[in-house]
Amino acid sequence: MKSRSKRNTRASASDEFLGFTSSVAIDSRLWRHDIAGSLAHAQSLAEADIISKGDMEKIAEGLRRIAADIRSGRFEFDPTFEDLHMNLEHSLTALIGDAGARLHTGRSRNDQVALDMRLYVREGIAELIGETLQLQETLIRRSGDGMDAILPGYTHLQHGQPVLLSHHLLSHFWKLQRDIQRFSDCYKRTNLSPLGSGALAGTAFPIERATAANLLRMRGVTENSLDAVSDRDFVAEAAFAASMLTIHLTSICEELVLWSSQEFRFVRLPKELSGGSSMMPQKLNPDIPELIRGKSGRVLGGLFTILTLLKSLPLAYNRDLQEDKENLFDVFDTVGASLHALTLFLTELEFDKVRMRESAEAGLMTATDLADFLTSRGMPFRAAHGLVKELAVLAEGDECKFRELAKEKLAAHSKKLKISDLDFLTLEKSIGRRTAEGGTAPASVKRQMEKALLSVSENRAMLETMRFEVGAVGELLS
Ligand code: ARG
Repeated sequence: MKSRSKRNTRASASDEFLGFTSSVAIDSRLWRHDIAGSLAHAQSLAEADIISKGDMEKIAEGLRRIAADIRSGRFEFDPTFEDLHMNLEHSLTALIGDAGARLHTGRSRNDQVALDMRLYVREGIAELIGETLQLQETLIRRSGDGMDAILPGYTHLQHGQPVLLSHHLLSHFWKLQRDIQRFSDCYKRTNLSPLGSGALAGTAFPIERATAANLLRMRGVTENSLDAVSDRDFVAEAAFAASMLTIHLTSICEELVLWSSQEFRFVRLPKELSGGSSMMPQKLNPDIPELIRGKSGRVLGGLFTILTLLKSLPLAYNRDLQEDKENLFDVFDTVGASLHALTLFLTELEFDKVRMRESAEAGLMTATDLADFLTSRGMPFRAAHGLVKELAVLAEGDECKFRELAKEKLAAHSKKLKISDLDFLTLEKSIGRRTAEGGTAPASVKRQMEKALLSVSENRAMLETMRFEVGAVGELLS
């Protein structure tokens, strides 16, 4: 199998041509998908009596032998055969003769590679959803530890209003939730078979396109042959969903970097999962969140490369499309590894709740509550806002002074207001008042957490279905 005569397909192809155009070093990663696609295609050819049942069986046996050789590392891909598809077809024909040469009947590499990519993207999406669900579960678990912790809520990175740590952590859960929705939406558009589109105009052989689609557990077939071989919007879409997810990860990571710094000290870094310095012996650094933040660059780069290679392409297949793979592979690999590392990191991270509380006590974060209170006693909100703002300026950030001034002002404003009326100006009371759905009051957060748990179990069920469909590739091969 290893010694194949070079140049037997492209006798005129110069080394320079192949050196520049050969893609097998990259697309060999698609071997399982390509072989499964070929097995499904061979079966649909046989069912339509285009090839004999005997040939179909030889093809299946040959392809499964090749799969076993690739899996065990005995197969050598040859760059002179340009790409994965040609490598496999040549090996098959070398192995089983004429039957192998019949496999490509009614098929082009154009619909073949589009199929491989759809199978790969659908699998990658399922894997990333699985990793995202694990991160979501970790966020829910850590939120459970955070019901008794209050920290500052920020806008402009300035103290705003106090929030529960649980509420804060769950905010990241819902961002990831939308990322999962984007992936599952993209999955539906991806999971269609382009086989039967041929090179561009459709196949002239009377195959039943649904046969291969069903064998691969795809949910249908594409509607237009030109469209099916010419677009990779599902690749771009998956890369976007992965990019949006990465952006969400970078926000979590940025926060962890800040929170672990001496200025915040809201978290203590896990020793086993943190770096040190080659010079400064005392250092513990948040390398994992920093690297996730940094690696987002290549993810966005991949997305932009994919979009750019699609731009202005005339119909139908163009070789530009070959460039989708390296980029998509890197996007999926990077995001998968980032999700995994962050889940581990968040599991091990220690929250310093005392320090969070200390920080939350500063910054007059109950000022809104005072303005709300005055409003509930009949003062127009804008006037109350102005009055409390004056107090805040006078208090110069000093919580005690703020309360004293508030008492004086209140007494001056209304005889009916009692000093004890200010007892509500505590962090707990401020939080406890925000009982509307989606707010930070403990009761609301508990309801939120229940919804989060429910959606995780719904998404786990969805993932099971995806895994069943994705599993068709492995099952066909074995
Ligand atoms: N390696 C090619 C790709 O990834 C496969 C399709 C080649 N088709 C062709 N007509 N040259 O897009």
